Amino acid sequence: AGTSGAPVNPVAPAAQAPAVSKEVTVLFGSQTGNSNKLAKKLSKRLEDQGMKVAVAAMSDFKPNTLKNVQNLLILVSTHGEGEPPDNAISFYEFLHSKRAPQLDTLQFSVLALGDTSYEFYCQTGKDFDNRLEQLGGKRLTPRIDCDVDFEESAEEWMNNVLASLSEVAAASAAAVAGPSGSAALSLAESEYSRSNPFQAEVLENLNLNGRGADRETRHLEISLEGSNLQYEPGDSLGIYPENHPRLVDELIAATGWQAEEPVVVNKNGDKRPLREALLRHFEISVLTKPIMEQAAKLSSSPELTELTSAGHEQELKSYINGRDLLDLVQDYSFKDVSAGQFVSILRKLPPRLYSISSSSKAFPDEVHATVRAVRYEAHGRDRYGVCSVFLAERIESGDKLPVFIQQNESFKLPDNPDAPIIMIGPGTGVAPFRAFLGEREETGASGKTWLFYGDQHFSTDFLYQIEWQRWLKEGVLTRMDVAFSRDTDQKVYVQHRMQESRHELFQWLQEGAYVYVCGDEKKMAHDVQATLLSIIEQEGGLSAEAAGEYLAQMQQQKRYQRDVY
Ligand code: 2AM
Repeated sequence: AGTSGAPVNPVAPAAQAPAVSKEVTVLFGSQTGNSNKLAKKLSKRLEDQGMKVAVAAMSDFKPNTLKNVQNLLILVSTHGEGEPPDNAISFYEFLHSKRAPQLDTLQFSVLALGDTSYEFYCQTGKDFDNRLEQLGGKRLTPRIDCDVDFEESAEEWMNNVLASLSEVAAASAAAVAGPSGSAALSLAESEYSRSNPFQAEVLENLNLNGRGADRETRHLEISLEGSNLQYEPGDSLGIYPENHPRLVDELIAATGWQAEEPVVVNKNGDKRPLREALLRHFEISVLTKPIMEQAAKLSSSPELTELTSAGHEQELKSYINGRDLLDLVQDYSFKDVSAGQFVSILRKLPPRLYSISSSSKAFPDEVHATVRAVRYEAHGRDRYGVCSVFLAERIESGDKLPVFIQQNESFKLPDNPDAPIIMIGPGTGVAPFRAFLGEREETGASGKTWLFYGDQHFSTDFLYQIEWQRWLKEGVLTRMDVAFSRDTDQKVYVQHRMQESRHELFQWLQEGAYVYVCGDEKKMAHDVQATLLSIIEQEGGLSAEAAGEYLAQMQQQKRYQRDVY
């Protein structure tokens, strides 16, 4: 669907590429772990074809070895306003700096992960692709950009890469090791995963906020019994939601389509009744530029054609913002468009990821999630966060939920149980720290722990208050500082508490503490980072530049990790 998978920069087809060697370097940069997982899948398939593969996060790759690499495969997502994810930053900067070597013997290909509902779609992947070419590299296969429903496009890219690398590899594999059997190109997975979620039973679904709160945060306990699914603190739980039935019904009513009409829901051509397709298979609460452009082609509306034409980018952007499919069909005419045509331009409904809030050592066979219900009004109508409101309003204990585990290697407790950790997680950002402390309690780890937590009101919004108190009493939690922003005249945030304790905080850093930040990115994590930098500057007696290097080095040592959204 959409433009996902459309190859761009159709240069250097495989047939014209110079001879390939069988050594391949696979680098990934990921915020959520998707490109990490795809990189490992690709590596396995390359190895099955007799190639020698080195696979690493970009942050673990030594950039001065780049000039020796002959085949480079990059899988990278884009973050925020077109920025590289945390573990891609250092490599990205190196490559775009004067230190980057000439790469005339390099062959490369890029898989870019992104989201067409953002303006700078797949920007980081595009940047890598352009820069590697500028430095003299040749494309093995064209870059492919994937949208949030990335599976099929990623599969296509992998197949292209494998095909273009396979000729020589096949020859050398035959010469060296013999054929590696049925190097099946099938991605069928035997265990539960994103593409084959586990139907998990919900054991508990509680509201953590007190009476009178103006927010609702659900604590979900979900059974993983019989699934063999494993997770570590820091990992995320993927949940496939259903769209709001009211939105689906209003959409069907507004268009006059038949709820039972079968429509195609995937690339295999499988059909489902329209209502079910709109509930479970397609994203209907977000408009993107590609959807608008394709809708304009279907619609007979000259206004929609104009809105999506060149020169109207700002108008289009502001129309899309906060509107959904119901707005689109109400605002423009689709009267000669069939339901089947219409759903063919939609994106698949992607799963939502939540930082897991339990330690599996403390709760064997269970996984917990902490989810704040997103409800707001926009353009004269109530709007709902798809998954959070699905969980808050339509899921109760005993129900089944399609789930999977998404590993997150860039948000992990230190290997060393003695290492001190500082955790900063206001709101639902505190979720993974409940997992961290549960794990440290169960393993008897002796490192000091310090939690910064905040929310609006002490009396209604103190999530898991009793558990932190118990951990404080038992010494699992060494120290806790809280910032309730709306109990006082002046707002207090977690970073104000950090600033107040800057001396001690810096001491912890000097002792090798690991710093973890989880939660809102744009405001909170940004301000927290600025505060950290200023603490390092003040307490370390460093220039702003040196403080920046201090933090960059912490990041390199994995002592500054973020899970932000
Ligand atoms: P507020 O809603 O009163 O502004 C969890 O959502 C907590 O994070 C709330 O107390 C919220 O405060 C606070 N918060 C909002 N913006 C923040 C920022 N820039 N830095 C830190 N915390 C922030």
